[in-house]
Amino acid sequence: MSDDEDRTMTRVEWNWIERFVQQFELCAVTAEDTVVLLSETASRPELVETARLALGSMGHHVAHFVMDTPPNRGPVPIRSTGASQALAGHPAAVAGLAAATFVADCTVEGLVHALELGDILSDGCRVLMISNEHPENYERLGHDPELRGQVERAADMMRSTKVMRATSPAGTDLTVDLTDSFVAASWGATTEPGDIAHWPGGLVLAFPKAGTVNGTVVMAPGDMNLTFKEYVRSEIVLTIENDHITSITGGNRFSGGGGNGANFDAELFASYLESFGEQDAYATSHVGFGMNAGARWDVLAMWDKSQINGTELRAFSGNFLYSTGANEVANRFCRGHFDLPMRNHTVELDGVSVVVDGVLQSELFEK
Ligand SMILES: [Fe+2]
Repeated sequence: MSDDEDRTMTRVEWNWIERFVQQFELCAVTAEDTVVLLSETASRPELVETARLALGSMGHHVAHFVMDTPPNRGPVPIRSTGASQALAGHPAAVAGLAAATFVADCTVEGLVHALELGDILSDGCRVLMISNEHPENYERLGHDPELRGQVERAADMMRSTKVMRATSPAGTDLTVDLTDSFVAASWGATTEPGDIAHWPGGLVLAFPKAGTVNGTVVMAPGDMNLTFKEYVRSEIVLTIENDHITSITGGNRFSGGGGNGANFDAELFASYLESFGEQDAYATSHVGFGMNAGARWDVLAMWDKSQINGTELRAFSGNFLYSTGANEVANRFCRGHFDLPMRNHTVELDGVSVVVDGVLQSELFEK
């Protein structure tokens, strides 16, 4: 091996492997499982290698499927959708995954909203979607044994909720009819056959049916756009009528309105959505809140964009998460997807405040 080849080898830390083994054990992966590691050519090499070595250290003879990452035909970069296109319907790959009992998903976007997911899960396979984060994130976040119960109880509460309301001092006042919505939640692992979990976890979401979301969402400086992987620096005011954003304005009250870049974030937001040229890009995808006490809102400042997918920022305790784009429950499909976690919001489920001024009311979800 030449020195050049040696320098391109992926370095994996033992403590990452140890952490991955712990998470696979939380998924009840045993010697009885048929395990497949799924990745694509654009996957983060250290993530794939850590997963492979962790499974190997548990004694598994791992089949590793590597898909060619499909081209992006534009017009804009696509990030943070959770809807991997790496499988592209490949029948042999899908059949192979469906024949497994456990899949470690290291695709860039993840399988959680992939078109092939139903087929993969149909025979009882369970999937752990390992979010495209630098492995140090997993090492730092650790495992919270309380999280599973809290997330499951919050999901139960969300399933029985008729009306969700979110408000904030900055001006958010959004009402969502959750009747017949689809509730999804992850505590970071799954032991259920035919289920997928995303890791990191600590997030409860509902995909509302069509015609149920109305009001105003105000993103304030410090709130996050996880497609751009940036903090909002100037206010964005979204008017939402019948699920769809019908106006996007800046109106930064603290810098005197337009000019001087005061509306820059609103312009950037509007430009990306407009690029898809379809109404579904402006529609509501999901609404929810974060529950992971170990996850932090401020870590975006510490990473380059290419180093993380930002799932920690979707999950930090007490965020209100509003998202745009595809929503199968409402029969809407779009490649573009914004996940927009916000701080300092109050979230009510049928009048019960589960988040107050950005603080999760965790006692509601204790045993
Ligand atoms: Fe999302």
